[in-house]
Amino acid sequence: MMLMIYYRAGGLALTSYFSKHQTQNGPLSSFHNIMNRETKQHIVELGTGCGIVGLALASLYPFSQVTITDLPLAEPIVQKNLDIAKLPNIIFQALDWCQPWELDNVDIIVVADCVYNTDTIPLLVNVLQAMAEKWPGVVIIMAHKNRHKHEILFFNMMQEARFDIKKRLAYGTGKDAVNLYEMMISNEHAAATARIDA
Ligand SMILES: C[S@@+](CC[C@H](N)C(=O)[O-])C[C@H]1O[C@@H](n2cnc3c(N)ncnc32)[C@H](O)[C@@H]1O
Repeated sequence: MMLMIYYRAGGLALTSYFSKHQTQNGPLSSFHNIMNRETKQHIVELGTGCGIVGLALASLYPFSQVTITDLPLAEPIVQKNLDIAKLPNIIFQALDWCQPWELDNVDIIVVADCVYNTDTIPLLVNVLQAMAEKWPGVVIIMAHKNRHKHEILFFNMMQEARFDIKKRLAYGTGKDAVNLYEMMISNEHAAATARIDA
């Protein structure tokens, strides 16, 4: 049976990048450094949609644990795709960016095509900031297709939240062009937050 999918350019680009660089490290070096560690890695995807990116990661990295998340209304379709894929290392968890959440130690956060709505951009930045402050070494891998000029709000808010863009990679050409980003919260900010929490 085929997977039921409706995915966006960002999800497709990230899936393509991960598949292409499964055996050979690619330009998103922080991602590969983490995945090359011998310990089991926990990857969380925010706004998974149908689950395409998380499913690709779980299949390409069978020793990782992948948690794909989205609003509760996404669960039925995602669960169908998980049932078809039958991968042991991936689960769906409902996670609304404006609700409290609970996750075990996370190494990598993946976000594809979730920056499009000015109302939800602050919610997304807040959840990324809370996660990065909780796990200071966490790497965010994001795919973004530029569609509207107001999307700059996301990048401005990420900068205010002290995230550094470690890498930006133009992926694809023409109307399929997508930017892939590797981001981390700045070390000084993470250390300051840890001191306040202590
Ligand atoms: C454009 S879709 C991208 C789906 C998928 N990542 C892809 O690339 O195909 C954006 C996703 O963000 C999710 N989303 C929007 N607001 C959200 C919120 N407040 N909390 C959690 N997910 C949210 C939507 O449900 C949707 O699945």
